[in-house]
Amino acid sequence: MAQKYVFVSGKGGVGKSTVALGIARCMSEKGLRVLIADFDIGLRSLDLMLGISETVVFDWGDVLLGRCSIKDAVINKGNLAFFPAPVEYDEAFTGEEVKNLFEVLDGDFDFMLFDAPAGVGRVFELACAPAEKAVLVTTPDSVCVRSCAVAAAKVRSLGIEKPGLIINRFVEKPVTKGRLLNIDDCIDAVSAKLTGVVPEDFDIVTSSVTGEQPGRKSPSSKAFERICLRMNGERVELFKD
Ligand SMILES: Nc1ncnc2c1ncn2[C@@H]1O[C@H](COP(=O)(O)OP(=O)(O)O)[C@@H](O)[C@H]1O
Ligand SMILES: [Mg+2]
Repeated sequence: MAQKYVFVSGKGGVGKSTVALGIARCMSEKGLRVLIADFDIGLRSLDLMLGISETVVFDWGDVLLGRCSIKDAVINKGNLAFFPAPVEYDEAFTGEEVKNLFEVLDGDFDFMLFDAPAGVGRVFELACAPAEKAVLVTTPDSVCVRSCAVAAAKVRSLGIEKPGLIINRFVEKPVTKGRLLNIDDCIDAVSAKLTGVVPEDFDIVTSSVTGEQPGRKSPSSKAFERICLRMNGERVELFKD
């Protein structure tokens, strides 16, 4: 059975898609079978980040609406499979249907990662519907941390207990100067266990434009490596290379 995680933040632009994709790529390189599904209806971005936007024809909405099969919509890149989001929201999408759709794929994957949209509304609920676990993503500033706490409360209200927390775009210097929150402040504000810390990394900015993955030695790749191992149940320190 696949472990099913939804990546949420409340606020947009904090790095949910980047972090979910970094983890998905890292897991697939370890030989794990990973499905990453975009739930950002209308504002999808994972196809661009993967550098395959030209090859997207169908999405999971088309499958739910009976326009194509799952096989037609899922794009495979080795161990990594990608399920694009619909361009438009349709009232016909229900949490139950979305849950059933991913249950059909359960046996084919070790991990399924669902990339939630900003906000905590209807589409956020759709993204949470097939998930059993959640990863909260925040940047270490009070605006994002507050909205992350709202998203944390929402996932708990949907029955997903004990979400993990990933602090993204972490930079040590402003923290020590008191301009950003430190790691403990973030953990306290959202009451979640820390899964990992991803540093600010310029390679991520260029990679999301080119679709090329940051090199293995980039600071973010090293962070994703540790996070992957931790999500896979291994005891790994947060910061050690
Ligand atoms: N650790 C990081 N270092 C540098 N830039 C990052 C990092 N994480 C995300 N970004 C950049 O931040 C922007 C928003 O990221 P994205 O993953 O689209 O956020 P979200 O999915 O939460 O809306 C993108 O341009 C991305 O390249
Ligand atoms: Mg996103």
